[in-house]
Amino acid sequence: MGSIDIPLSQRISPAIFYWGTPVVLITTENEDGTFNIAPMSSAWWLGNRCMLGLGAVSQTTINLIRTKQCVLNLASVGMEGAVNALARTTGAKGVLAAAEDTGYLYFKRMNGYKYVPDKFGHSGLTPIPSDLVRPARIAECPAQMEAELKGVYEMMQDAEANGFIALEVKVLQTHVHQNIRMLGHANRIDPDKWQPLIMSFQELYGLAPKKVSPSILANINEEEYRPFSNSVEDVKNVENTQEQTQ
Ligand SMILES: Cc1cc2nc3c(=O)[nH]c(=O)nc-3n(C[C@H](O)[C@H](O)[C@H](O)COP(=O)(O)O)c2cc1C
Repeated sequence: MGSIDIPLSQRISPAIFYWGTPVVLITTENEDGTFNIAPMSSAWWLGNRCMLGLGAVSQTTINLIRTKQCVLNLASVGMEGAVNALARTTGAKGVLAAAEDTGYLYFKRMNGYKYVPDKFGHSGLTPIPSDLVRPARIAECPAQMEAELKGVYEMMQDAEANGFIALEVKVLQTHVHQNIRMLGHANRIDPDKWQPLIMSFQELYGLAPKKVSPSILANINEEEYRPFSNSVEDVKNVENTQEQTQ
């Protein structure tokens, strides 16, 4: 405390405020029953809810509002090839002839976005069935959360440049690769093993390989947060249902 050197601050006006958030590969179902994938990173979690910031013209937004279902697949360090393959693509055909007055869709056309209807084939990622929702999970992602749409908020209603939506989804079921689980705990992720891919100002990063310091907050037992999340029984219920239907 008090020993940090404080450099001089200067006023600037950044065009983007992407300070560093995890890369999520959202899967949704297209109208023809195939699956779309979109990389995005305006995402944060509170309890078992996730807020997603997405363009209204994205195929993901269109699918999510229509079907109310998605899977939040988290990309990890090592998956940057797949993320870059999906970057500047869209499952929305409208990009091909987007007119100047179409906002973000025109931005995409002008910035070289390609229409790609088969994102799984294009990225080489592997679809696997979900338990509770129709969109496939992505096998390569170490964490996959099946989720359901609960709320929609139109952002920037006070501004001329609008067309962005905040979507609240509820996590129904979580799957993780066994190698990121915390030993000795049924329901914990080991942050020493989990290596999220982070997008900061459009660039891709990993986290430092170890904690920078012990955390005072982490003295709270994770189970204290359970009332804001899913009950442990939820997972068992699905397992029982699957056993009964097999
Ligand atoms: C790493 C990364 C992060 C991105 N983050 C977002 C985001 O948070 N919100 C958003 O609307 N688009 C984001 N994009 C752009 C979307 O991928 C883009 O809108 C895409 O066309 C959506 O695909 P879709 O139209 O098939 O849904 C991001 C792209 C990349 C590569």
